[in-house]
Amino acid sequence: MSRDEAEARFDDLAALRIEVFRAFPYLYDGDAAYERAYLATYMRAPGAVVIGALDGDRLVGAATATPLGEHRAEFAAPFAARGLDVDDFFYFGESVLKSVYRGQGIGVRFFEERERAALEAAFGKCVFSAVIRPAGHPERPAGYTPLNRFWKKRGYERIEGLVTGFSWRDIGDDAETEKPMEYWMKALTPVR
Ligand SMILES: CC(C)(COP(=O)(O)OP(=O)(O)OC[C@H]1O[C@@H](n2cnc3c(N)ncnc32)[C@H](O)[C@@H]1OP(=O)(O)O)[C@@H](O)C(=O)NCCC(=O)NCCS
Repeated sequence: MSRDEAEARFDDLAALRIEVFRAFPYLYDGDAAYERAYLATYMRAPGAVVIGALDGDRLVGAATATPLGEHRAEFAAPFAARGLDVDDFFYFGESVLKSVYRGQGIGVRFFEERERAALEAAFGKCVFSAVIRPAGHPERPAGYTPLNRFWKKRGYERIEGLVTGFSWRDIGDDAETEKPMEYWMKALTPVR
C-alpha cells in the first residue's frame, strides 16, 4: 500500500502489532506511544514498503520492509564485523497476521512481495531479525513451534554469531528491557 494509505491506517497497524506481538516469543506489552515512535521512524525512511492484507476494508495483516542502511544505521558495525555491508540489505521489519487468517499462504505472500520490492529497489539481499528467548522460558507455550522451518523453506539462513539488542516492555514488566535479536538472510536471484 502507498505511504498515504499506510499512514491513514496507522491506528489499525499499531493495534495489529500490539495484538499479534503479545504472544510468545515477543510478549510485547504494546502501547500507543511506543507504536507512534516505532512507526514514525519507519515512515520517515524514503524506501519503506508496507504490504497490507485486507479483508474487505479491514486490515488483518501487514508486512513492512525498508533499506537496512536507512532504517538502522547503528547495525553497520555488527554487520561489518561479519564482512557484511548494511547498504546491500533490504530489511524486513515484521509480518503480523491475525491468527484466524493463518495457514492460507498470506505469510508466504508477505515474503514474496517484500522480495519483489527489494529487487525493484535493486537490493540483492534481504534480512530480518528474530528475538532469541531462552529454551526454558516460562512463557513458552507447550507445543510452540518456532518459525525457523518456515523461514528456511523460504530460503533464509541464520547469520552465525550476529546478535544485536532491541528493547521493548515485556508483559508483566514495569520497564523496557533489551532483548537479543538474531538475523536471517537470503541472497536474491534477480528475475529476468
Ligand atoms: C508469520 C506469519 C505471518 C505467517 O503467516 P501464515 O499466513 O500463517 O503463513 P502461510 O500460510 O503463508 O505459511 C504457513 C504454511 O502454510 C502453507 N500454506 C501456503 N498456502 C497454504 C494454503 N492455501 N493452505 C494451507 N497452507 C498453506 C505454507 O506453505 C507454509 O508452510 P511451509 O512453511 O511448509 O511452506 C504468522 O504466523 C504470524 O503473524 N505470526 C505471528 C507473528 C510473527 O511471528 N511474525 C514473524 C516475525 S515478525
